[in-house]
Order: sequence, then structure tokens, then C-alpha cells
Amino acid sequence: MKSMRLAQFRKRIRGICILLNLKKGGRNADLAYSTFVGDGIGTTHHLDFMDDEKFLSAFSNAVDNLPNGLRQNVSHDLGWRAHIVGWAAQHVLALPEKGDFVECGVFYGVLSKHMFNFVDFEQVDRKFFLFDTWGSEGSHPSYTEDIYEKVKLRFNYVNAILVRRKIPEILRSVKFNKIAYLSLDMNSYLPERAVLEFFYDKMITGGIFYFDDYGWQGFPELRATVNDFFADKPETLLQFPTGQSIAIKAGSRLH
Ligand SMILES: C[S@@+](CC[C@H](N)C(=O)[O-])C[C@H]1O[C@@H](n2cnc3c(N)ncnc32)[C@H](O)[C@@H]1O
Repeated sequence: MKSMRLAQFRKRIRGICILLNLKKGGRNADLAYSTFVGDGIGTTHHLDFMDDEKFLSAFSNAVDNLPNGLRQNVSHDLGWRAHIVGWAAQHVLALPEKGDFVECGVFYGVLSKHMFNFVDFEQVDRKFFLFDTWGSEGSHPSYTEDIYEKVKLRFNYVNAILVRRKIPEILRSVKFNKIAYLSLDMNSYLPERAVLEFFYDKMITGGIFYFDDYGWQGFPELRATVNDFFADKPETLLQFPTGQSIAIKAGSRLH
């Protein structure tokens, strides 16, 4: 039954990809054989994650029960991002030093829920801090709906800590240990800069910074502020064709 649902889900993603390509009027015949179209890109390359049962099951659960329009959009657009953050979770959990996870800007938490599913995070001895106002405190004009109760139901995990307060004001009131994964997804450069300043020294060596909106044309200030922040630091950014970027926290050099 479960594998039937997965097969249908996979077929749906591929169906949407092919449909979008046909609509392009054959500008690139190759794209009719696409393996992924969404998030501003199309490719015909082999993508292992699209055939990975564990990935598909985790992602399918993360988009389950979202409002209809949103579900439709994210199920084909966020697949590659889910692959990036799932990889990041596996990477940091394999590091010798322990660190908690933080996401700043959660909304319904598609990516963080995918991570919970993908690495079975509830069984891991780490916390996942999820920061958002969820429609309160007027933090972002595009996110005014109060969805907090719905999000709480989606994150009924012992080690998920939902913090419903505005960033950056709330950060100094929360007790953090070391951090292994930091996601910045507030679509807003001023709080994202403050988050970077606050967490940089708390990141473990090998820890991942994930920037969801880095390459999107609509966020030039955000890109500039991230570049400016890292300009005098050893980390460099790895960019993805889907618009995200990551940096890996460098270790301190011994002289
Ligand atoms: C693009 S959504 C996050 C999507 C999410 N990462 C996912 O995986 O689906 C952006 C979220 O950032 C939140 N946000 C924006 N500015 C904020 C701030 N200053 N403090 C807390 N949350 C903020 C909004 O409420 C909104 O829910």
C-alpha cells in the first residue's frame, strides 16, 4: 500500500515535469525527457534521490495535509531543496561533534519536517529549534495568517522546539548549546544578518549554514548581506541551480 502511494507520488512529480516541458513548445527537445523541472530549472540528468524510497516517503509525508494550492506548488518545486537539507542532516549527524538544529523561518515546515522524516530525527539525541511568528507580531507582510496550531500538529515530536517569536529579538532569551545546522529562510535580509551574527561562533566545525533564498532574483539585499558577512571569513558558498546555497563551518587553523 505504502509503495503504491510512493509510486503514485513519483509518477505525479514526473507527470508535472513532463507537462511543464511540453508547454514550453519543444524549445529544448531534451526537456521532454526531464528528470526534474521546478524551482527555476529543468534537467535531464540522472537524480538518485528521485528513485530513493526513503527520500520519497519522507518528502511525501512532509507535504501531506498542506492546504491544496501550497501542496501542489511545493510537491514539485521543493524536491531538490529537500534533497539538499536531507543531505545536510545526514552530513552533520555523522560529524564527531554534536550540535542542535535551528530553522529561522518555518511556515508549515516542509523542509524541516522532511528532515525529521528522512533521518528519523526524533530518535536522535539533538534538538530542532523552529523559529517563526506564524502570523503574529507582523514579522513579514506575506505571512499574516495564524497557522500556529496546524504547525504544532505537524511537529508533534519530543525534540522539536517551536518558538513563536520574532527574530532577532527572541534569540538572546533562548539557551543554545552548539549548533550543527542553521537554516535561514525568512525572505528578509535584516533578521537573516542578525541570525548569522548570533550563531556563527556557536556552529560546530563541519556544521552547515543553509540559505534558502540566496540565488532568487527577488532577494538582492539578502544575497549581498550573506556575501558581505562571509567576506572576511574562511567559509565559501556552494550555490545550487535551484537558488539555494550552503556554507560549511570551517575549523580554526592551528599556527
Ligand atoms: C518562506 S517561509 C519559510 C518556509 C519554510 N522554511 C519551509 O520549509 O517551508 C518564511 C517564514 O519566515 C517567517 N518570518 C519572516 N520574518 C520573520 C522574523 N523576523 N521572525 C520570525 N519569523 C519570520 C514568516 O512568518 C514565514 O513563515
